[in-house]
Amino acid sequence: MKKEDLLKILDAANWAPSALNLQPWEFLIVSGDKKNKMGKNYGRIVDKYTKDWDEAPDKAFMPRNEFINFANVYGDAPIVIVILTEASSDPVYRKAYLESTSAAIENMLLAAAALGLGGCWMTGPLGDEKHLRDLLEIPATREIVAITPLGYPAVIPQPRPRQDPDLTKKVKWLD
Ligand SMILES: Cc1cc2nc3c(=O)[nH]c(=O)nc-3n(C[C@H](O)[C@H](O)[C@H](O)COP(=O)(O)O)c2cc1C
Repeated sequence: MKKEDLLKILDAANWAPSALNLQPWEFLIVSGDKKNKMGKNYGRIVDKYTKDWDEAPDKAFMPRNEFINFANVYGDAPIVIVILTEASSDPVYRKAYLESTSAAIENMLLAAAALGLGGCWMTGPLGDEKHLRDLLEIPATREIVAITPLGYPAVIPQPRPRQDPDLTKKVKWLD
């Protein structure tokens, strides 16, 4: 992946709208040994989370072992981006920080797709926050919002079906 492309993606994120123009997002670009350690930890989280999938295979969107192998190496992505925001105990500010940073994440993923790269918005790896905080030295003043691996996709997945493709249930017109 070209550094120039990565910077374009991060620049798109940085141009997201934000409550009170606070621009509360921060990005950790993780590769090498730290990425490998994050993968092993995500693998352990998935292992625990999917313990009962063998008995209920219909729950699985992919076979359990495949999911664990995927998690262990973050799907072979060369980097993972950890997205942080300001931490706040005030519910109004917390919402503002999380929503603004979510807008930045979506910008980032759209810019990545436009450049032929692939990512995946993930909160599953936050199942062991302490590990992430210790490994990446994330202070208590920051909330971890999500993680996305980033790399050239091996396959382009089919779009997932929409629950309400005609927008008859999810949209209410009022006048
Ligand atoms: C807040 C959030 C958390 C998500 N966490 C994960 C995750 O931990 N692992 C994963 O594989 N996908 C995760 N996803 C991706 C969703 O599974 C995906 O968006 C959904 O299945 C619909 O697929 P689509 O985005 O291709 O339409 C997450 C998406 C969002 C918005």
